[in-house]
Amino acid sequence: MSTSTPTGGGVPTGAPASGPVLVRTREELARARAGLRGPVAVVMTMGALHAGHAALVAAARERATSVVVTIFLNPLQFEAGADLARYPRTLDADLELLGRVGADVVFAPSPDVVYPDGDPAVRVSSGRLGTVLEGASRPGHFDGVLTVVAKLLHLVRPDVALFGQKDAQQLLLVRRMVRDLDLGVEVVAVPTVRDEDGLALSSRNAHLSPLDREVALVLGRSLRAGQGAAPEGPSAVRRAARDVLVGEPLARVDYLALVDPDTLADVPEHFRGPALLAVAARVGPTRLIDNVPLVVGAAR
Ligand code: PAF
Repeated sequence: MSTSTPTGGGVPTGAPASGPVLVRTREELARARAGLRGPVAVVMTMGALHAGHAALVAAARERATSVVVTIFLNPLQFEAGADLARYPRTLDADLELLGRVGADVVFAPSPDVVYPDGDPAVRVSSGRLGTVLEGASRPGHFDGVLTVVAKLLHLVRPDVALFGQKDAQQLLLVRRMVRDLDLGVEVVAVPTVRDEDGLALSSRNAHLSPLDREVALVLGRSLRAGQGAAPEGPSAVRRAARDVLVGEPLARVDYLALVDPDTLADVPEHFRGPALLAVAARVGPTRLIDNVPLVVGAAR
């Protein structure tokens, strides 16, 4: 991995043999950005990178000449204390992975670089869409996400930004923010990456004990059961998914929801068409989420 120099020289473009340039400050980022050939893609992360992030970077490489990855554990999107403190921090391993997958620039700022005046007095409001599903149990979470995403878009100035389908509500809210606030960037969704046993990859999986990991498989199983019942209508989808979840008492379900993918409103019984089946549950001390798109009423 290279580090940026005050002269700003030698910023690689395309997949660099020497690994990505690591930049820590706004000034270093601006210099590195000026040296990138376009189009430029951004992949935003909080670190603790895994194959899901690698898939985001690979998708970014397909769409753009240069790829910037941000690594920033955004305090604004965590409830005070605990969850932020537990979040895995693995910068060396992250840089090694990004060297292999071909990022050009890694922007890994500290909180005082992103929030030089401390907590921002003005934030992006996620509105009603930010208060349901994940937002219901994590008040203010999506305002914190959108605020940092907006700031990183302004700092990196990408042509395209890629987000994982696993965080479906985040993806929807970023799309809405970009449209509603005319942010002028293309937002691309990248499908969820799963382990062979169906567990959706997440940085939080690092906290799962071997038993918790077995228990966690129930999320994917319930979503697949719901998908299987999609031809029969919404109540069949909800019943099939719930029946699987109740069979695993060690998973404490937060929500199971079949919703309109654009409004996140529960779909009514007569609904037919594209929908999102989403689940959140605590397994041991770890809160996990997962979702699948499905088409209600479509023949198998
Ligand atoms: O999905 C994440 O890792 C974070 O919410 C994001 C988009 C990097 C903003 O902090």
